[in-house]
Amino acid sequence: MLGSGERSSARVLFTGDRPNGPMHLGHYVGSIRNRLACQGQGEQYIMIADHLALTDNIDDPGSIARNVVEVGLDYLATGIDPRLSTPFIQSTVLELAALTTLYMNLVSASYILENPTKNEEVSRRGFGDDAPAGMFTYSVSQVADITAFDADSVPVGTDQVPLVEFSAHLVRAFNERFGPVIVVPRAVVPPMGRLPGTDGRPKMGKSLGNAIYLSDAPDTVREKILGMATRLTGTPDGEFDPAVSPPFLYLREFHPDSAEVDALEERYRSGVLSDDALRRAVLDAVETFLGPVRDRRRAYADDPAQVMAMLHEGGDRARAKAAATYDRVKAAMGLRYP
Ligand code: TRP
Repeated sequence: MLGSGERSSARVLFTGDRPNGPMHLGHYVGSIRNRLACQGQGEQYIMIADHLALTDNIDDPGSIARNVVEVGLDYLATGIDPRLSTPFIQSTVLELAALTTLYMNLVSASYILENPTKNEEVSRRGFGDDAPAGMFTYSVSQVADITAFDADSVPVGTDQVPLVEFSAHLVRAFNERFGPVIVVPRAVVPPMGRLPGTDGRPKMGKSLGNAIYLSDAPDTVREKILGMATRLTGTPDGEFDPAVSPPFLYLREFHPDSAEVDALEERYRSGVLSDDALRRAVLDAVETFLGPVRDRRRAYADDPAQVMAMLHEGGDRARAKAAATYDRVKAAMGLRYP
């Protein structure tokens, strides 16, 4: 039995992605890059959260299924290695839904309703009073996702920390009641980047229409970057500040040589480098990164069966672990039948 105080020394990391669409550069700097850095440092589960994606896609569940393959391709194209990580599809591990049911009565509905991450999401998606019940219960299903794998570390952005704290709270409530059988997860906020959209809004997003996708063709990337905003929305006109300059934020993430970026900064500040020349430097840097990603993606895209095989093999490994946790949790609760 693995107690909450006696963590196994090897870290178990858990992260998830909603298959709302293909992944973009913002996902790369905000999450995928950290996963690549963590590969080989312990177990790493990477879940494509198709059940979760239903919360805001119930009008078109088929689009979620199609995007699962795209996300799987994005994983392989960026270097997620199924020998070092376990990528899988949420709905193929039924034990996650079963664990959710067991956990559902350990927190009050009002505790769910007061979670700031959750409330921000409900208002951002513009549901008003019509938010589907799944928008609220998924806080509990996330606890199942994380704990099924004995994950002790959940890398997230700062905005998601309250949801991981929600998980830790529920796990402690369980362990106090039924004994120390579930690992208490902890949010880790790795140093990760956040890329503004090509329109200068601070966040890149599919629904914002300002994203550069890992799967974009060279012409598309070119068009997006050569039209990129040189100022972050909402920042006042005035002295050039590289910290809030979209082109420089991209260069800092993707240019292989930071001394060169320093030099570009100086030339831009003094007016020697034009906006257009700056955007071309961004294009070069982004293409240096995207070129090999695109090549790997193309190699796998011709063989979607290979992508699905990877996700199903991951699903088999994930299911084995989740089933063991589910049995342990049920037994601790005394749900045993002769
Ligand atoms: N919350 C993530 C998203 O909205 C995906 C996700 C599902 C997740 N279950 C999780 C993240 C558990 C961390 C832990 O995209």
